[in-house]
Amino acid sequence: MNATIADLKNRFEDALVTAFGDEVAGIDPLLVPTSNPKFGDYQSNVAMALAKKLGKAPRAIADELVQTLDLSDLCEPLEIAGPGFINITLKTEYLQAQLAVMQRSDRLGVETAESPQRVIVDFSSPNIAKEMHVGHLRSTIIGDAIARVLEFQGQDVLRLNHVGDWGTQFGMLITYLQEVCPAALTTADALDLGDLVTFYKKAKQRFDDDPAFQEAARQQVVTLQSGDQKSDRAWKLLCNQSRREFQTIYDLLDICLTERGESFYNPYLQGVVDDLEQAGLLVEDQGAKCVFLDGFTNREGERLPLIIQKSDGGYNYATTDLAAIRYRIHTDGANRLIYVTDVGQANHFAQVFQVARRAGWILDGVEVVHVPFGLVQGEDGKRLKTRSGETVRLRDLLDEAIARARADLETRLKEEDRHESQAFIEHTSHIVGISAVKYADLSQNRTSNYIFSFDKMLALQGNTAPYMLYAYVRIQGISRKGQIDFGNLGADIKILLHEETEFALARHLLQLDELIGQVSQELMPNRLCQYLFELSQKFNQFYDRCPVLQAEEPTRTSRLVLCDLTARTLKLGLSLLGIQVLERM
Ligand code: ARG
Repeated sequence: MNATIADLKNRFEDALVTAFGDEVAGIDPLLVPTSNPKFGDYQSNVAMALAKKLGKAPRAIADELVQTLDLSDLCEPLEIAGPGFINITLKTEYLQAQLAVMQRSDRLGVETAESPQRVIVDFSSPNIAKEMHVGHLRSTIIGDAIARVLEFQGQDVLRLNHVGDWGTQFGMLITYLQEVCPAALTTADALDLGDLVTFYKKAKQRFDDDPAFQEAARQQVVTLQSGDQKSDRAWKLLCNQSRREFQTIYDLLDICLTERGESFYNPYLQGVVDDLEQAGLLVEDQGAKCVFLDGFTNREGERLPLIIQKSDGGYNYATTDLAAIRYRIHTDGANRLIYVTDVGQANHFAQVFQVARRAGWILDGVEVVHVPFGLVQGEDGKRLKTRSGETVRLRDLLDEAIARARADLETRLKEEDRHESQAFIEHTSHIVGISAVKYADLSQNRTSNYIFSFDKMLALQGNTAPYMLYAYVRIQGISRKGQIDFGNLGADIKILLHEETEFALARHLLQLDELIGQVSQELMPNRLCQYLFELSQKFNQFYDRCPVLQAEEPTRTSRLVLCDLTARTLKLGLSLLGIQVLERM
């Protein structure tokens, strides 16, 4: 919580008890930042909440409370509005002092978590030998941003890539591999299988066309699962090939992940069955072992089963997730489990969480959350595909973003008659292209579908990465022009707020700490984007109105500090979104 709110909260709580007695001890004073500066900085709605309990009119309660509260060191005299809202306006000296604290802090005044949690973020998680598609891209970008925010808070974060590296498709793939490249199962050399997606398609074709192949593939699953060495070799070969392909995407996007695929949980699957059996949850239904779910029914109103073990002894996607949840809480010691997938898996997670909860695996104080996101659509509002109607390859998508950023840059350089090195052009277009893709995704409310548009995401105007990067560059330009070292403005600077645009910028800057707290609670990166976007707008308004380099001292230095704080906040905020800033662009 923001230090100011925390302080206000304490003082409100004390005053409540002084005014109304122990009856109201521990009552939340309901302090919120106001939506409109004309109501001050914060507002307390506690008078309304207490009306019933105290049997008094909210306005009278507010009156009494305000008389008891002494906040004169922090705020202007409190005001009561409407039915009994208490409006709090921070004093200018207080704002100035807070800004000075922020200026001196490496973390821009953002507090670190008091007692760090062990958090697992399960994200990206593509499937071996299959295409890593735009859904996985969303999961990767959103999951990474969430992990970065939590890491910045000082939480102990484990980023897990729950890759689909197990399951019946491997029977088919290995059987096909045996046909086309028998050496793969015996030689010790690394093999390059070429494009795995094409390989997968061909294998699938064989599978669909030939019943004998199908039978062989089924047999192969059993052989693999029984631990046969040759099959295991082939399986590893396929996984390694996929891994290399995924890694090129992660490198491009600057993503760090620990792979712990589905196969990791194989040794724990039987334990899941045993535990559920012991808990009395397991029911045998047509040879399959199931748990009947609360709140999930078919059209006839009968409870639906979650199949834990199929009649042939095989396990499911859900069984693996049950083993994973159990392992993550009981072995990894996680307090918070976050799963970032498309909204289509909402039921899957609700079911898995329910069974885990009923089995008693979710210990007290452990939070499990599914972080769903909507579909990625093309500009026609349909599923994103290439012009020829095929699924878009991620590599191509990212390359195109970079190529377009480069074309835009080159046009601009020509117009401005600027000459830049090849290295500058490459670096800048890489950063702009990748940032544009990330920012476009993150700035949407993740729960809605999102329309992928190169033109929109690369625009210099609007809530886009180029706009944000440009705001940062603009401030660096001020420091270059005035030959000012922002890092060295002096130790004892006084920040002075006079103009309205200075106040608006200052107040916004001071919300950073609170905002980071909210993002880490709600897991909504778009709120951080919105904050940064408003910050750039407020900065631009300030910069249009208030001369900086031209101003007289001490105003000049004070304004330079506002510039510096804005730049550092942008840089930090963007870095939490996985976006690197540029000094020039
Ligand atoms: N591999 C899955 C997919 O591509 C996503 C896995 C998400 N994580 C999990 N623990 N189930 O849809």
